[in-house]
Amino acid sequence: MALITWSDALKRGIAFQDEDHEQAVHLMNALQTCSDEDLPRLYAELYTHTKEHLAREDELMERIGFFAKDMHMAEHARVLGEMQAFQDKLDAGDLAAVRAYVEQAVPEWFLNHLDSMDTATAMFARQMGES
Ligand SMILES: [Fe+2]
Ligand SMILES: [Fe+2]
Repeated sequence: MALITWSDALKRGIAFQDEDHEQAVHLMNALQTCSDEDLPRLYAELYTHTKEHLAREDELMERIGFFAKDMHMAEHARVLGEMQAFQDKLDAGDLAAVRAYVEQAVPEWFLNHLDSMDTATAMFARQMGES
């Protein structure tokens, strides 16, 4: 997967969400080109960032009563479970598995998720006066 280029086209008009997504893109890009030495630190950074970001989205959805929040929150929980599984692989020294995950699956998931559930949530949030 090519590096993701951050641009206004990826913004959805909710400030914290756009800022978080931009930071995620920088972390994902750094993970694609980092040394083995830096991989554990950067992966931990992405995992922590993702936990915090998804919690912020969950809180927004609860607050505005987003109609599809159960589905969106379940997907957040699923991907965090997946990230923990790869954290376990990393802790066990399987760098190759983690590299494959961060180079392919993670950026693909990010773009698909942004284009579907995050976009729907942001549209609803803006209708509810969030920005
Ligand atoms: Fe998001
Ligand atoms: Fe999301």
